[in-house]
Amino acid sequence: MISNLHSLVECACARPESRLGLDFYREHILVVERFACRLAPILGARLDIVLPAALLHDLAAIEDFSRFAEHHELGAARATSILRELGLPEDHVLAASACVRRHVLPVAQGEGTAEEVCLSNADALAQMANPSYCLHYAREARALHFPAGRDWYLALVKHRWPRLHPAVADLARPHYLCALGACVDDRADSNP
Ligand SMILES: [Fe+2]
Repeated sequence: MISNLHSLVECACARPESRLGLDFYREHILVVERFACRLAPILGARLDIVLPAALLHDLAAIEDFSRFAEHHELGAARATSILRELGLPEDHVLAASACVRRHVLPVAQGEGTAEEVCLSNADALAQMANPSYCLHYAREARALHFPAGRDWYLALVKHRWPRLHPAVADLARPHYLCALGACVDDRADSNP
């Protein structure tokens, strides 16, 4: 089942009409999957729910970037129909699609299921851990020139950092500091 989902998402990224492209699959989706695997035992999340959700969480944005603002809701509906078609038990389907619906910002412990906490934290961690790709994404997908893209990325990681689960924050700290470092404006330093 997981290999079906890998193929489905990779093919969706590879389609010429996808604004995100194959780089998004390799540099974001697979990174989120790896962090979800790492966080699941720490957070007590079930991998059989988190992994399908990790692979499908951005599918709606991959398929139609123009509706990015709704991609979590559209993605939850897509995940529901895909996972039902693959024959997953209904409670797994609903739990995974709820993860997709809530992945955009880190869900605090006690405010969602362990799987929702896991995926939403893994997504934020993946953004912090891959600044070079995120800056590329800002340019290619969001059409932001470098200073605007850098400011967008800086605001994004700063917004998510205080919302991370405490156990995840320990793991994320070096990545967060690295992301901040990638956004240093050298011109400000050279013009006191
Ligand atoms: Fe994501």
